[in-house]
Amino acid sequence: GFDIGKLRTETGLVTLDSGYGNTAAYKSAITYLDGEGGVLRYRGYPIEQLAERGTFLETAYLLIHGELPTVDQQASFKDEITRHTLLHEDVKRFYDGFPRDAHPMAMLSSVVSALSTFYQDSHNPFDEEQRHLSTIRLLAKLPTIAAYAYKKAIGHPVVYPRNDLGYVENFLRMTFSVPAAEYELDPVVVNALDKLLILHADHEQNCSTSTVRLVGSSQANMFASISAGINALWGPLHGGANQSVLEMLQGIQASGSDVATFIRKVKDKEDGVKLMGFGHRVYKNFDPRAKIIKAAAHDVLSALGKSDELLDIALRLEEHALSDDYFVERKLYPNVDFYTGLIYRAMGFPTSMFTVLFALGRLPGWIAQWHEMIKEPGSRIGRPRQIYTGVVEREYVPIESR
Ligand code: ACO
Repeated sequence: GFDIGKLRTETGLVTLDSGYGNTAAYKSAITYLDGEGGVLRYRGYPIEQLAERGTFLETAYLLIHGELPTVDQQASFKDEITRHTLLHEDVKRFYDGFPRDAHPMAMLSSVVSALSTFYQDSHNPFDEEQRHLSTIRLLAKLPTIAAYAYKKAIGHPVVYPRNDLGYVENFLRMTFSVPAAEYELDPVVVNALDKLLILHADHEQNCSTSTVRLVGSSQANMFASISAGINALWGPLHGGANQSVLEMLQGIQASGSDVATFIRKVKDKEDGVKLMGFGHRVYKNFDPRAKIIKAAAHDVLSALGKSDELLDIALRLEEHALSDDYFVERKLYPNVDFYTGLIYRAMGFPTSMFTVLFALGRLPGWIAQWHEMIKEPGSRIGRPRQIYTGVVEREYVPIESR
């Protein structure tokens, strides 16, 4: 028996909203999302236009500062980021301590958290200069941290950043170049990765962004807050879905590429099997990012001269699902993660790096939302309520009498 009267507080009635399906925790002027219409806009700019004509760095600037940069603003933003891409040499020792098969997302969140020990001069969330410094440091260093994680996994020496290169170029070179060999950047890969990062850059109050805000609401520093967001992103129901999708496609391939049997398992909820990369809490029509990415998957694979049987399996899965009542009734459509893995794979990334690429893209969104929260007048610590379902009260029993 529980007492409904207990749910009343001085501020009103406490409502139970599982998974926060209908609860807005914040007001935000950053990203507009209309799930029924399949609309996504950053600061009012349609995602389609930004992906087609923008760059990742200007999108990052837009999200964080609210406006697209002028030529001068863009140049100084890029210049500042470029000057912070190096990691302190001692940071490398963290990688020595990780086992070689460590998941790169674990390395990413640990090293980002550790940055707070190296940069203790930028912890104060109420100091504008310090906030700016943390922002630049994180944007500049996350690609280096990610590339080091990859090098650790394959047992290669790290490659230092090169300041004459662009943001994405630098990351690709730190990841894929090896000593004593020329590394040639492929413009198809550079442009495709830049576009994918734009498409991932923000998505209002998703699990990782809400985590960043919640941790930040205790006035924890930006490194601590973003590190928590990286961990939230790692889960297979969120950013980790891009890795799970590829593993699912490989599993179907290994078992004879029978898409219909797999779909049947999903519908029967056999062992909790889901069609990974499908469904979304907010999009109930289509995910505008998935539309762009599906087209990009075709373009990138053909430009790189790669054919992939997994793409064929993915296309057949989508076709089956979209004409099946189970998926139609539940409004389940491909989300951002369904086709990204195929592109990353064609670019040469191992599956374990896929969610890291998502994190690189989402970083400006996390930062922008952290700033917005901290600057909001009257911003309060995040503190959800609960509906208590345990025993109401009982007497303590000494251990010998239990
Ligand atoms: N495959 C099969 N069934 C599904 C799927 C799926 N991918 N997604 C949802 N369903 C079913 C659920 O089983 C449920 O069915 P029921 O009513 O018979 O119980 C119904 O659809 C509603 O699903 P919920 O789990 O209530 O939806 P919710 O909004 O809580 O979850 C989520 C959204 C987590 C994205 C879910 O669709 C899912 O698990 N998808 C697969 C993982 C994935 O692709 N995640 C990436 C999301 S996008 C991102 O974070 C970048």
